[in-house]
Amino acid sequence: MAKVAIVGAGVIGIGWAKLFARGGWDVALADPRPDLDQIVRSELSGLSVTAYPEAGAAAEGADYVQEAGPERLDFKHKLFAELADATAGDVVLASSSSSLLPSEIAKGSPAADRILIGHPFNPADLMPLVEVVPGEKTSSMAMDRAMQVYGDLGKTPIRLKREIPGFVGNRLQKVFNDQSIYLVQQGVIDAKDLDDLVKASLGLRWATVGPFEGMNLGGGPAGILHLMQNVGSQMTFEIGEPDKSKMGMVIKEVDAAYGNGEQKYEQGVTARDDKTRKILKVLDEN
Ligand SMILES: NC(=O)c1ccc[n+]([C@@H]2O[C@H](COP(=O)([O-])OP(=O)(O)OC[C@H]3O[C@@H](n4cnc5c(N)ncnc54)[C@H](O)[C@@H]3O)[C@@H](O)[C@H]2O)c1
Repeated sequence: MAKVAIVGAGVIGIGWAKLFARGGWDVALADPRPDLDQIVRSELSGLSVTAYPEAGAAAEGADYVQEAGPERLDFKHKLFAELADATAGDVVLASSSSSLLPSEIAKGSPAADRILIGHPFNPADLMPLVEVVPGEKTSSMAMDRAMQVYGDLGKTPIRLKREIPGFVGNRLQKVFNDQSIYLVQQGVIDAKDLDDLVKASLGLRWATVGPFEGMNLGGGPAGILHLMQNVGSQMTFEIGEPDKSKMGMVIKEVDAAYGNGEQKYEQGVTARDDKTRKILKVLDEN
């Protein structure tokens, strides 16, 4: 059985552990957290997952490494040095990082050719996307291997041609979230209504067609050119920026709409994951 070392057993690492183990991998899950054994027994019960307090020991003999530790460059540097030492020269060292560039993580590493980003979307075991991002020194062999591993796990791996801060998913998300905050701050719409608006329109559309496919269909039989020359030609307004000094009122409004705390979080996650599973099932059938 192929072995994967997953380093970090937080929100993302646990998701990866479920995914790899269900995909037939032997999982070595490393995290110094004192409740790791308990997590393996409860959240990962019945799966082939072994707990390790240290990353190096988990990575010994691994065929693939998926790092999901804290989002700090100094931490990742130290960790990737340890992982490079513990693994064979052809083993991919993939970081789940949402914001650190692979070239920065790989800086000074003798294993820079096999360090890349394998960036999931939360929840990592459910969301199909993995952005596979090369650093300046990442080999195409390492990229091919990562694409194959995520594809075999049933994910939708997308290979970026080069690194850029935020990669693609989070750059798009940032534009959308910033504009959502701006509209609430400007008193155009309530936070909850904005969420309902998105679920009833763009969210649903983008589960079936992407922005470009949508623009092409939006133009009718003449496609995107017609859209650009007609509706698109009038979209010349400025969109504004959120005011960082006025985040308090937005946070208050979101808290009032959805609440927070352990119980609300669990309810929210369960409802989100159930709906996501149902949508994925319907999309898979088509
Ligand atoms: N949360 C998200 O939505 C999300 C989405 C995509 C990618 N990511 C990325 O995934 C990574 C993990 O994020 P998260 O949200 O799961 O964080 P988290 O804080 O939930 O988990 C991090 C885990 O790393 C562990 N850790 C600390 N030191 C360690 C060490 N020396 N060895 C092994 N484990 C160690 C911590 O105990 C903790 O359990 C980050 O790089 C983040 O950018 C997060």
